[in-house]
Amino acid sequence: MERTNNIETAAKYIQEGKLVAFPTETVYGLGANGLNPMAVAKIFELKERPSFDPLILHIASLDQLKELIKTTDERVYQLAEKFWPGPLTMVLPKSERVPDLVTSGLPTVGIRMPANPIALELISQSGCPIAAPSANKFGRISPTTAAHVQKQLPDVDYILDGGKTTVGIESTIIRLTDKGFQILRNGIITREELETVLPCDEQSAIESMEAPGMLKSHYSPRKKLLLADDTANWQADLSKAGLISFTGKLENGFYKVIRISQHEELKDYAVNMFEAMHTFEDDDSIELIIAEPVPETGIGIAIMDRLRKAEYDWRK
Ligand code: TXA
Ligand code: MG
Repeated sequence: MERTNNIETAAKYIQEGKLVAFPTETVYGLGANGLNPMAVAKIFELKERPSFDPLILHIASLDQLKELIKTTDERVYQLAEKFWPGPLTMVLPKSERVPDLVTSGLPTVGIRMPANPIALELISQSGCPIAAPSANKFGRISPTTAAHVQKQLPDVDYILDGGKTTVGIESTIIRLTDKGFQILRNGIITREELETVLPCDEQSAIESMEAPGMLKSHYSPRKKLLLADDTANWQADLSKAGLISFTGKLENGFYKVIRISQHEELKDYAVNMFEAMHTFEDDDSIELIIAEPVPETGIGIAIMDRLRKAEYDWRK
């Protein structure tokens, strides 16, 4: 495995059907030629991801979009105009060109144009849409640095190192209905921002299999993680615990504290939360991770979604 910043070499690898981990503004992706089923199959294998969990395609231009979808819905272009390049994934009816392996047999495909110059250049030079899930083993913590990728996926063919990602949590995923949009996964682009373009359709509740990303356990460190408001649960030895601290109010007694934001900014929580989980996961002196919860409004919804999924396994 190579880890450098040579986009030309990485693009050649993509063309040859190999796997390239690359930075986006959200998290690192594990990329392959999205039109080559053999290459896409390698993603599922290396990530140990079940084949029923579909991948999203990353594009660098709207011309590419047109070839991948079977809709001329004007709303798609309104949303693209406002939010692309950026951390928004749209689930849309797929064209024949998209291999079934990418979508796990679904008639829809998730597509986004990432706002990271390295990612855009890689896609352009590769000359194809790049299929990419987050570059972690299935169910584990998402990577926000090249080192995180190397830790979980040492066998990837190539890692493009673009430094730490600037958003830190995965894209907001939406689909369109007759009435407007529905959020399938929360992210840094909030419902309120989307509502400046389209109404939110609250009618039909989301069935779990239609949004596989809504699996209850996800993003889990290999150590017990609890939210600090589950007071009943953490009568623990704090001398072996790490705290992900937001307000600074809970910091006494912990073995190690990571202050996630200097000025209680939710954006900083998103940017730094996975890195904090990685740091505590890698620290042999730590047995328990405690995370300070945040109010569930705006970006706080996406942050609490990630924390609850990291916690889920341990609450039974
Ligand atoms: O920010 C991101 O979205 C990152 C970066 C690398 O772009 N990617 C990412 O991919 O988070 P992944 O595979 O870890 O999460 C994408 C989620 C999956 O949970 C998948 O179930 C859902 O999107 N998804 C993909 N295609 C779908 C579809 N056609 N319908 C419903 N959900 C879909
Ligand atoms: Mg993921």
